[in-house]
Amino acid sequence: MKTDNVLEYDTEEIVAADKNCLWHHLKPHKLFEMQEQMVIVEGKGLMVTDIRGNEYLDVTSGGVWSVMVGYGRDSIAEAVCAQMKKMPYFAGAYGTIPAIKFAQKLLEKLPRHDKVYFSNSGSEANEKAFKLVRQASRISPERKGKYKIMYRDRDYHGCTFGAMSSTGQAQRKEDYGPFLDGFVEFPHCCCYRCPYDKTYGECNIECARKVEDIMLEEGPETIGGLIVEPITAGGGILKPVPEYFPILQEICKKYDVWLIIDEVVCGFGRTGKFWGHEHFDVDPDIITMAKGLASSYEALSATVVKQKIYDLFLCDPSDPETRLNYFRDISTYGGCTAPMTAALESTRIIEDEDLVENSRVVGEYLLEKLKGLEHFDSVGDVRGQGLFAGIEFVTDKVTKEPVTEAQMAALMANLLAQGVIAGRTNSSFHGLNNVMNFAPCLIITKEQVDTVVSAVSAAIEKTFK
Ligand SMILES: Cc1ncc(COP(=O)(O)O)c(C=O)c1O
Repeated sequence: MKTDNVLEYDTEEIVAADKNCLWHHLKPHKLFEMQEQMVIVEGKGLMVTDIRGNEYLDVTSGGVWSVMVGYGRDSIAEAVCAQMKKMPYFAGAYGTIPAIKFAQKLLEKLPRHDKVYFSNSGSEANEKAFKLVRQASRISPERKGKYKIMYRDRDYHGCTFGAMSSTGQAQRKEDYGPFLDGFVEFPHCCCYRCPYDKTYGECNIECARKVEDIMLEEGPETIGGLIVEPITAGGGILKPVPEYFPILQEICKKYDVWLIIDEVVCGFGRTGKFWGHEHFDVDPDIITMAKGLASSYEALSATVVKQKIYDLFLCDPSDPETRLNYFRDISTYGGCTAPMTAALESTRIIEDEDLVENSRVVGEYLLEKLKGLEHFDSVGDVRGQGLFAGIEFVTDKVTKEPVTEAQMAALMANLLAQGVIAGRTNSSFHGLNNVMNFAPCLIITKEQVDTVVSAVSAAIEKTFK
């Protein structure tokens, strides 16, 4: 039957069509035959409702930590609607009002940076950074041959081939190689599972210092960029110690390697400061971002660089030698105006409602409450920063043996049964997908945190009784 509303639906028909037509992200499809998948139809604040009318308290900000201002923000929808009626799209080779205004806003938030390049996803924002490194290694006499990118074990940078080549998560990469040449891995910085079996205080921050050794082995004259997350997200919520970034920065400066910080998850208040890297004494050359930019009401990402990088790509169109030295890259949807409009309004909300401060204050409360679960034998480590926290589950606190996949799955199901949607490390590492994570919308209250922590406590008791 033809209706006026293209989204009008019949519940059973939609549930069947979900099973028959949709290829869900990061899901083993055998699950479809065993259980009905949740179809989310509505959201308000932190609450989401599925097609059967069940309500859940979502502490994942939409599954992948990106709906910063919560669901149901009419003002974002209205701003986007007005802009779409006026001018929905024009290619990024030109300016549009939303693109210019949001670029201005970003640079206000990043006073040491100078130029903003828009695209559509975190993966793409990172690809742009890698392309800048590669092109600079060809066109700049000072950077000749510096084409390699270093990346860290346990970090994630996306699903495209460059992004996967720079990702330190074995299960995300398995079966998809060969990857790109010129990507070099270095060890992670997780103190709980120190790659050097050392203890903080007596370790000389080996995890950071080792980067120089690896660089020297590779040949620093071949290294152009080094990418890291400020706080590793999908890799298990890993915050480096304070000394870490200054050491990394010094090594990068010494060998003229561009430090690229991936703020895709940590940006826009997630960790209790506007940017994740603000927790550390560090000044990146390139910053990439996505997810929280427009609170995922629209798809938007950006690659932000310092003037010195932009200047390398200035060229004289009349000089046959250098006329192609500009950044020859395009992203069709980088010209959509709705994403920047949504981003402007989402950022206004973050500022006007002081949500970064809420992230700091309620984040401290969340961490304190989660640490109250450390008495459980299965809770190995609780860590986090701002509204971003994780619990690592183990079968033995001394050996730190991770819980099994079946135990982890049961734990998540027991939590969901109480109406709480949390996240977890998912198909990232062999044997180490044992971290439950919490990244609620920045509007969460202390009362909602209490509800979440009680539910987690009950789920632990039920799973490991
Ligand atoms: C730190 C980080 N960088 C990049 C990406 C890739 O972003 P996208 O999925 O938008 O391509 C992700 C996605 O989860 C991420 O966590």
